[in-house]
Amino acid sequence: MYRITELAIEVGLSRTALLYYEKLQLIKGQRLSNGYRSYSDKDLQRIRLIQKLQAGGLTLKECKACLEAKVDRKLLQNRLQTLDEEISQKQQSRQLLAAMLGEGGLKTWHESLDTLAPDAHLDWLMKQGFSEKEALRLKWLSKDMNEHDQYMADFMKVFESLERWAPGSESETLKAISLLPKQPKTILEIGCGKGLSTRLLAKNTTASITSVDNEQSALESVNERFKAEGLGARLKTVCASMTELPFDNGSFDLMWAEGSAYIMGVPQALSQWRPLLAKNGILMLSDLVWLSDTPDDTAVEFWKGEYPDIQTVATRLKQIEAAGYEVLEHFTLSHQAWQNYYEPLISRTEELKSEMQGSQALQNISKEIDIYRNYLGQFGYQMFILRKCD
Ligand SMILES: C[S@@+](CC[C@H](N)C(=O)[O-])C[C@H]1O[C@@H](n2cnc3c(N)ncnc32)[C@H](O)[C@@H]1O
Repeated sequence: MYRITELAIEVGLSRTALLYYEKLQLIKGQRLSNGYRSYSDKDLQRIRLIQKLQAGGLTLKECKACLEAKVDRKLLQNRLQTLDEEISQKQQSRQLLAAMLGEGGLKTWHESLDTLAPDAHLDWLMKQGFSEKEALRLKWLSKDMNEHDQYMADFMKVFESLERWAPGSESETLKAISLLPKQPKTILEIGCGKGLSTRLLAKNTTASITSVDNEQSALESVNERFKAEGLGARLKTVCASMTELPFDNGSFDLMWAEGSAYIMGVPQALSQWRPLLAKNGILMLSDLVWLSDTPDDTAVEFWKGEYPDIQTVATRLKQIEAAGYEVLEHFTLSHQAWQNYYEPLISRTEELKSEMQGSQALQNISKEIDIYRNYLGQFGYQMFILRKCD
C-alpha cells in the first residue's frame, strides 16, 4: 500500500495530479481511519499504463476509455498513424546525426532534403566545406557526403575515357543547328563536356565560341581536339560554374546547353542565363522529360530520386514561355542518341566490373542502365530551341 506522497514519488507525478486522477476515477484511494489516503499496487500499475498511453498521444479521458475497454478504434488508428510519422521523422533526424558522425549512409536524407529544399541543401553542403562544384556533384551523383570522395573517384574512372557524357547524336545536334533562324556570331556553350557538340558548332557556323565547363580535364580534351583540327583560333574555353557565368550581359547570339541545364535546374537556368543573350538571341537547351502521362512506377521511383524536377514537355514549354522566351522548335532525341551514350558506358562498366566490385558508383550506373533498357520511351531527352523575347 502507498500513501499519496509515496505513490507520487513512485510514478513521478505531483500530489495534485494524483488527486485529479482520482477525481477522474482513474485511481481509487482508500480512506484510512487516520484520514490518510492509501493506494494499492493496482493503482500504481494503472498509472504506469496510463503514462504509456499518454506517451502515445492519448489524453487522460481517452486513456480512461481505453482502460474501461471502450476503445475508439478510429481514434487509435489516427494516433498510430501520427506516431508512425513522428517515428519516421525521428529516424531521419537520427540518421542525419549518425551520418554527421561518420556512421551510416546519407543517401536517403540527401535525396529527401533535395526534394524538399534544394537551395537550402546546397547552401548547407557548402557550409560543410564543399566547393560549389563538389556540392553539385554530391547533389546529383554521390548523394552521400561521407562516401563522396570514393564515389567521385570511381565515377570519374568510369567516365574519363568515354567521349560522350550524355545522350546525343551528331545528326540531332546538326538538326538543332539547322533550325537556328540566323547565323550566330558569338556562341556560349555551357557544360560542354569533351566537346562533341562544340566541334559541330565550330564546323557548321562561323561564330567565335566560348565553351564553359567546371571540369578542367574536359576542357583540356576540347582544346586538344580543336588544336588537332586547326580550329583552335575560334575557341575559348573557360573553367567556371554555369551558376555564375563571368560574361557581360547581351554578349551572345546563341547559348547552347546540351544535357547540362538540369544541374542548376531548368527554371533557374532559363532566368539566370537570359540576360547574357543579345537582343533576339537564341537559347538551345536539352532536358530529360516524361514522354508518357502514365509512366511505370519503377521509372517514376527512379527519376524521383535521380531527377526530382523531371517534367512533361508541356510543363517545360509553359515554364519556358513564362520565363520570357518564344519556342521556335522542339524535338525528342532518337533511341540512337541514347545508344550512343549507353553502349560505350555498358562496355566500360563490363570492363571494370571485377576491378570495381562493391563500388556504389558502378552499382548506380548499372541501375540507370536497367532503367534505360526497360523504360526508354516513357522518358526521353527533348531539344528546345528558344528565342529571347524583348
Ligand atoms: C551530362 S554532361 C553533358 C556534357 C555535354 N554537353 C554532352 O552533351 O555530352 C554535363 C556537363 O556539365 C558539366 N558541369 C557540371 N556542373 C557544372 C557547373 N556547375 N558549371 C559548368 N559545368 C558543369 C560537367 O562537367 C559535364 O561536362
